[in-house]
Amino acid sequence: MIARVRGRLLEWYERSRRDLPWRRSRDPYAIWVSEIMLQQTRVAVVVERYLAFMARFPTLLSLAQAPEQEVLALWSGLGYYRRARMLHKAAQFVAEHYGGNLPKTAEELRSLPGIGAYTAAAIASIAYGERVAVVDGNVERVLCRLEGWKAGSRAGGGAQVRRKIEKLAAELVSPERPGDSNQALMELGATLCSPRNPQCLVCPVATDCKTQGEHQTAPRPPMICREAAHALSVRSRKKAGQVRSEVLLEQRPASLTVMPGLWELPMLREAVVPEKDMCLTVRHAIMQVNYRVRIRAVSEGDIDAVTIPGGERRWVPLGEAAGMALTGLTRKVLGRLHLMTAEPPDASSFS
Ligand code: ADE
Repeated sequence: MIARVRGRLLEWYERSRRDLPWRRSRDPYAIWVSEIMLQQTRVAVVVERYLAFMARFPTLLSLAQAPEQEVLALWSGLGYYRRARMLHKAAQFVAEHYGGNLPKTAEELRSLPGIGAYTAAAIASIAYGERVAVVDGNVERVLCRLEGWKAGSRAGGGAQVRRKIEKLAAELVSPERPGDSNQALMELGATLCSPRNPQCLVCPVATDCKTQGEHQTAPRPPMICREAAHALSVRSRKKAGQVRSEVLLEQRPASLTVMPGLWELPMLREAVVPEKDMCLTVRHAIMQVNYRVRIRAVSEGDIDAVTIPGGERRWVPLGEAAGMALTGLTRKVLGRLHLMTAEPPDASSFS
């Protein structure tokens, strides 16, 4: 059964794999960047951001030498900024201790700060052809369905199921094509064997699957709803004979924001905004939280009275804001109000 499933997966992958930019490269750095971006982010979003990121940081050394703010700016739109910080720090570590070359085995890769078992196995198998299994959420689901194992039930021995998954994943890795083998399983989970709508009729391993669409996937946890309110303050300044508009942005410390290090609109003390000052309401989701956000127009003179202090503030020319490490919400608000393009920056923003 193992050899048959492995063969069918590889054959299906050969025929059906998506043409993704990082699949045209065997550069371990490029594969590393793509795998970090793909954690918790949809492929469609990753493709565009990956191209911009690689255009700006084509090598590990170029990433290691960049200021963190620029790395965060290029990460815009991907969310989960901790991943960008860890990637940046790990690149600096590899630059310093390994001369900029990533180690060649999963075991050595795993010993680096910021590289876990999943990422180490993905880089080692795809870039270096090491026979080591990659187990992500998609692989876990596919294998549990294949074998009829109940996934994710902590009371029912989660660790035991996890061990069985890892053993089966290891057996399924092709000795000749480990990278393709791993990507075939991940690809199946990301496309046909999706959490809520598995397409068993066209699945290459349906005849070996014990559940065939009857497998229960744990329901998504419900979204939490929260309110937030920010100040939008725009002023005009004359510089070198030209009038330019500037927006007040703030960089808050980790104790005061879920987005430390990123630039955002100052926070209002009061969530209630007088009707006449309300310039926008937007919805914005971050992980499990759905925010309803009110944006209040505030004049320069009123800023201190109505906002919560605590971060570094800066008046930023509107033309420069787009290239900064803004939060997704700030980018959305300034874009909706046509104060800047809502598109995340690309490499040309920094040339
Ligand atoms: N998800 C994360 N990494 C992947 C890859 N290399 N191929 C397919 N899906 C993935």
